[in-house]
Amino acid sequence: MTAKLIDGKAIAASIRNQLVAEVAAFRESTNIVPKLAAVLVGDDPASQVYVRNKEQACAKIGMASELFRLPATTSQAELLELVATLNSDRSVHGILVQLPLPRHINETTVLDAVTPLKDVDCFHPENVGLMVQGRPRFKPCTPHGVQVLLQESGTVVDGAHVVVLGRSEIVGKPVAMMLVQKGETANATVTICHSRTRNLVEIIRSADILIAAIGKPEFVTAEMVKPGAVVIDVGINRVGDRLVGDVAFEPVSQVAAAITPVPGGVGPMTIAMLLKNTLTAARIQS
Ligand SMILES: NC(=O)c1ccc[n+]([C@@H]2O[C@H](COP(=O)([O-])OP(=O)(O)OC[C@H]3O[C@@H](n4cnc5c(N)ncnc54)[C@H](OP(=O)(O)O)[C@@H]3O)[C@@H](O)[C@H]2O)c1
Repeated sequence: MTAKLIDGKAIAASIRNQLVAEVAAFRESTNIVPKLAAVLVGDDPASQVYVRNKEQACAKIGMASELFRLPATTSQAELLELVATLNSDRSVHGILVQLPLPRHINETTVLDAVTPLKDVDCFHPENVGLMVQGRPRFKPCTPHGVQVLLQESGTVVDGAHVVVLGRSEIVGKPVAMMLVQKGETANATVTICHSRTRNLVEIIRSADILIAAIGKPEFVTAEMVKPGAVVIDVGINRVGDRLVGDVAFEPVSQVAAAITPVPGGVGPMTIAMLLKNTLTAARIQS
């Protein structure tokens, strides 16, 4: 079998096209330009690329963005002060604090300080709680991107056994919570695996849908995948000058029914969902 490619780049482009029209209509009816404030502390090269991509994506769909660049030596108190200023700035609708933060800053403290109405990453406990209860204000960007990829590829999630590899707060846990909900592109039976899981390979092999988010290059091999499974690779790992996922793409493509590439799979979806959330935030606050 050769798997169908789930083209995240194309699906994200079509979502961004829809957003162009939605943003224009919102601006027309409210006279408000949705605005994302991005906060970057330090000079991590990957973070700089991510933030630049997010800013460019805002501009392309008619939204405003502003980058707040702080040195790596910024204290937690100074960062919290900036977050407080952005919280009360009525021209800012979404706040994104780019992770990771320097070690001397407590990420949880900073993320908790973002007002829930502007929390477009959906990291605040209030927004996570609403999402877990099935009444989301915002959907977390990468997990929502995964869900839309499943929907757009025509994957039947209802009743399927989804195995999520990884239990991070950003990807593993929220994607599992979203797919277990009652609703469309959900109603799955979900197993979450992590570094302490016993019989890992056996569990992975029982997945109808496998979502890999562990940050280990090409960890998932063809032998681990049930023939006909749908494989969503969230991983982004740099190996030499190549970017690879958590799944060995070529061999797994021979076994799976459908698979996302890296790059060009989940990555572009994350940004598209961030834009969607920023528009939602502007709507909520208008
Ligand atoms: N495409 C995107 O937009 C996007 C967005 C976010 C992240 N990512 C990528 O996705 C990957 C995961 O990111 P993350 O932030 O979720 O990672 P993370 O916070 O490092 O979490 C990794 C998870 O994988 C588990 N794990 C690690 N090694 C394992 C093993 N050998 N067997 C089973 N489980 C194992 C860990 O288990 P323990 O909890 O037991 O330690 C942990 O739960 C990274 O490559 C990251 O770059 C991509």
